[in-house]
Amino acid sequence: MTEKTKFPEHFLWGGAAAAMQIEGAHDADGRGLSVADVYTFDPELDKKHWLDQWHMMTHAQVEEALDPSGTRNYPKRRGNDFYHRYQEDIDLMAEMGFKAYRTSISWSRIFPNGDESEPNEQGLVFYDKVFDALLAKGIEPVISLCHYDMPLNLLKSHGDWTNRGLIDLFVHYAETVFNRYKDKIKYWITFNEMNCLKHHPYASAGIIEENHPHLEQAKYQAAHHQFVASALAVKACHEIIPDSKIGCMISYLLLYPNTCHPEDVLECQKEERVSFFFSDVQTRGAYPAYAKRMLEEKNVTLDIQPGDEEILLENTADFVALSYYMSNNASAQAGEHEKASGNLVGGIKNPYLLQNQWGWQIDPTGMRYALNVLHDRYEKPLFVVENGMGAVDTVEDDGSVNDDYRIDYLKRHIEQMAEAIEDGVELMGYTAWGPIDMISASTSQASKRYGFVYVDQDDLGRGTLDRSRKKSFDWYKKVIESNGRELEQPAETLEQSHTVEK
Ligand code: BG6
Repeated sequence: MTEKTKFPEHFLWGGAAAAMQIEGAHDADGRGLSVADVYTFDPELDKKHWLDQWHMMTHAQVEEALDPSGTRNYPKRRGNDFYHRYQEDIDLMAEMGFKAYRTSISWSRIFPNGDESEPNEQGLVFYDKVFDALLAKGIEPVISLCHYDMPLNLLKSHGDWTNRGLIDLFVHYAETVFNRYKDKIKYWITFNEMNCLKHHPYASAGIIEENHPHLEQAKYQAAHHQFVASALAVKACHEIIPDSKIGCMISYLLLYPNTCHPEDVLECQKEERVSFFFSDVQTRGAYPAYAKRMLEEKNVTLDIQPGDEEILLENTADFVALSYYMSNNASAQAGEHEKASGNLVGGIKNPYLLQNQWGWQIDPTGMRYALNVLHDRYEKPLFVVENGMGAVDTVEDDGSVNDDYRIDYLKRHIEQMAEAIEDGVELMGYTAWGPIDMISASTSQASKRYGFVYVDQDDLGRGTLDRSRKKSFDWYKKVIESNGRELEQPAETLEQSHTVEK
């Protein structure tokens, strides 16, 4: 007899994407540019420095991107053309049996400059069509309000999130979409991976380093404004859509102490708190006790206005969403150890783990550990809204893509999720990252692929954009059909794969 599934009934299996990486059509139907539309892909760029480009942005780069006669390659303006192919993509998701699809609304499609009083109707209509198409297939939309794509114009008119004025603009945007889609969307997330503001302040908060000699001060002040904006969005969501659930989100950048030396353990705790700080505030509704010293040591003084603390306390997140891809080590003597790369931030290499082609260390057991930590810490439902393996896929002569490495990566993580559920973790769902190949957030490559569906597009935007099913497509379909019970073993394991470094 086959083993009983460990996943609850109505578990939200599916996939996740972000407007800035899929939609394209960057200037269609009145859309304004977003901060994401400034990232270039430059084939000459040293591969090791791709991540640095994502971390910081300069005025010169923004000006260049705004020049209409510019000829540089801006892949996020193209995405995978979801704007025109959404029906085909949703059909493919439905064929896999998706119960949920997490994506985001492009703020600058609704408010092209970010500060208009009236929304762009054509932008709203686009999402009506997408949400209707999902609902028609029985797929629950899970919608993030902002996924690294604030309207670019706000940089000129308001600066960045250090400006308190952004709170009202964001809340106006949030209320607009809550009112418009109140009968269609029950699951919302405010900011994607808010803890990453610490690592890439431009993408998260529009912060250009040149404007802020005291960068840490700027980051934490911007974070405070986003906390208040997020809490006010939670409030509005509950008022406008009484049966809704709205979550906060962090990227779970799992860290282990590099050794059992107490100094390493302490360093690990300190670095982990840099991330937990963001979910602590949004989940518990108050700054954690450790924040005082943490901010003092960085010489940061926050401008917290009267009433802000009440807003945070009264409007906490209903659930905690997380992305989980990899883990790193932390050491009190970081300079002495071999480094590994990672999702948005690097760390120290762990000798026990494999790495993908971008140096992200693969750690399925860490997923179980991470879910338990978050559950113990917050005792709120969790939702894994991103997980997956970026790889360069090879299309065989017959058109097939045999992505056993991806199957093995996902299989191992799903197994560990099941263990976490057995451990007592309350898990709402799992949306694998990038079901239809898209543009990478950090490197702006099209060749860094996560999908079950291959999209014919290269890093320079050449290709038909045609969609085709990879081997993982049928595999994931079976996983969903069996509610996580049938996790078929791939023909080739991660250890045997050329896409993985030992
Ligand atoms: C997450 C982001 O942190 O990582 C996504 O929310 C991103 O936007 C994903 O795409 C994978 O990262 P990358 O750089 O490989 O696209």
